[in-house]
Amino acid sequence: MEKTLWYKDAVVYQIYPRSFCDSNGDGIGDIQGIISKLDYIKDLGVNAVWLSPIYKSPNDDNGYDISDYRDIMDEFGTLDDFKEMVKGMHDRGIKLIMDLVVNHTSDEHKWFQESRKSKDNPYRDYYIWRKGRGKNGKKTPNNWMSNFVGPAWKYDELTGEYYLHLFSEKQPDLNWENPKVRQEVADICNYWFELGVDGFRCDVITYISKVYDKNGNLPNGSLLKDAPLMGKHNYCMGPRYHEFMHELNQKAFGKWDSMTVGESQGITFKDAFNSIDESVQELDSVFSFEHVTTPDSILMVFPKKFNLVKFKKILSNWQTLPLTSQPTLFLENHDQPRSWPRFVGYCQENKEYAAKMLLVAMQMQRGTPYVYQGQEIGMTNMVLKDDEYKDIMARRIFGIMKKVCPPLMPIARKAMAKRARDHARTPMQWNDSENAGFSTATPWMYINPNYKQINVKASEEDPNSILNFYKKFIAFRKGKEIIIKGSYIPYYEKSKDLFVYQRKLQNKSYFVVCNFKNKEIKFKVPQGLVCKTSSIAISNYDEINTLTLQNYTLKPFEATVFEIEE
Ligand code: NOJ
Repeated sequence: MEKTLWYKDAVVYQIYPRSFCDSNGDGIGDIQGIISKLDYIKDLGVNAVWLSPIYKSPNDDNGYDISDYRDIMDEFGTLDDFKEMVKGMHDRGIKLIMDLVVNHTSDEHKWFQESRKSKDNPYRDYYIWRKGRGKNGKKTPNNWMSNFVGPAWKYDELTGEYYLHLFSEKQPDLNWENPKVRQEVADICNYWFELGVDGFRCDVITYISKVYDKNGNLPNGSLLKDAPLMGKHNYCMGPRYHEFMHELNQKAFGKWDSMTVGESQGITFKDAFNSIDESVQELDSVFSFEHVTTPDSILMVFPKKFNLVKFKKILSNWQTLPLTSQPTLFLENHDQPRSWPRFVGYCQENKEYAAKMLLVAMQMQRGTPYVYQGQEIGMTNMVLKDDEYKDIMARRIFGIMKKVCPPLMPIARKAMAKRARDHARTPMQWNDSENAGFSTATPWMYINPNYKQINVKASEEDPNSILNFYKKFIAFRKGKEIIIKGSYIPYYEKSKDLFVYQRKLQNKSYFVVCNFKNKEIKFKVPQGLVCKTSSIAISNYDEINTLTLQNYTLKPFEATVFEIEE
């Protein structure tokens, strides 16, 4: 099938199905709920949806632990519901990107159930089993730590060996060295492509190739370099990563007019070209996390202040890739806290301007932008008590801290208040009625009490809402050649207040000025900028007091895009 590269001018909306919309009153979002909101999604102007996992799963990690790759989780609906949803999306010109979670399965997947039965079971080698170290084999096979805290190995009595799990014990890692596993993954992709899916977001895909020594053992990692959550591991972009991805591309991705995006922990700009350029035929794009980890720090426990200069530098690097390599543009997803106040500092009075400014700052760059559900109405983090966190990550951090070092609980509490994944998973706030219009039953996850003010209905009615600006901006962005393929020229790179850049195609360009501060700032047109005529293309302030590009005073969190001609 011919590749139309449709994602080069697409805006993707991410749905976390559990928290999006509940149609059957069980407190859990579902596929029929998504179907009921397809017009809302279309109205937003996006042209693709990335759906977090909806496959059968015991939900140890909310669907990122799959027990059957070819069927739908009971709580979410049936395959018929799925087909109706795909049709509903396609009828509205919306593509569907499914989550592909194949670094690991659930321990309830039949492959693992078989694999643990005996050392000579045909599925044994689908997973990574090793003997323990030490005299009586009581030490884990190496010192790797799981991303959910604690050792990455679990002892299984049945055969007296350990299996590797880089996430929870219920998420055993698949053994990609086994060609049968790679074939299974390709078959799963083609199964969903045949059902109409348009692409995949590949979960922790940079973890699939592990490092082995010459005896087939997995070597110890250095505790500092390979610490969990730091993004650099012994198993990140391992030696066969590119080979495995190319093979999957040849067997599945490359055969369809698809789009793929890798969740690529540990990937840096250095690896970008070799991983996503059209010429390498692996993935079409990747999520790198360097820019969103700038506000955080080691183990998420000691938050740092947001550093705009570093943030701009990281993003600007990705903009230097050739047009055959597509960057991704995002601030939020189901693992990240909400972007306000993370990237702009705490501010109540100009919060809406801040949210709109972040949109312009991110999406005027080249790349495929992602909007995470609720971001378009300015949903925020929520205050939770220790026992109200639902996510496995927060629960484990609290559990271990309480057991090992209770005096450090206040630090863990402070960190989770800022950083827990729960913040992005509170139910979507549709209106100000009971349960925010998300469900008629008690929702599976607490609803942010600010739903009375922050909700879709109120946003639709307010012409100045964040939502209405998102619609205006996404419509503005669509089809603009300068945004899709213009060059990127950064200005004032050392400024701690402003994010300024030009997007240029021949003699026309957009000049983007974003004020990251909640105060007025004097802006000076950069020396040497050639500009014969200029006008405002779009701004988050309707009433800005200049009509052409000139020295002027920017308003708090102002984001203005000038169209200029040389
Ligand atoms: C990344 C996903 O985004 C996250 O939610 C999940 O817990 C891990 N991968 C494990 O699958």
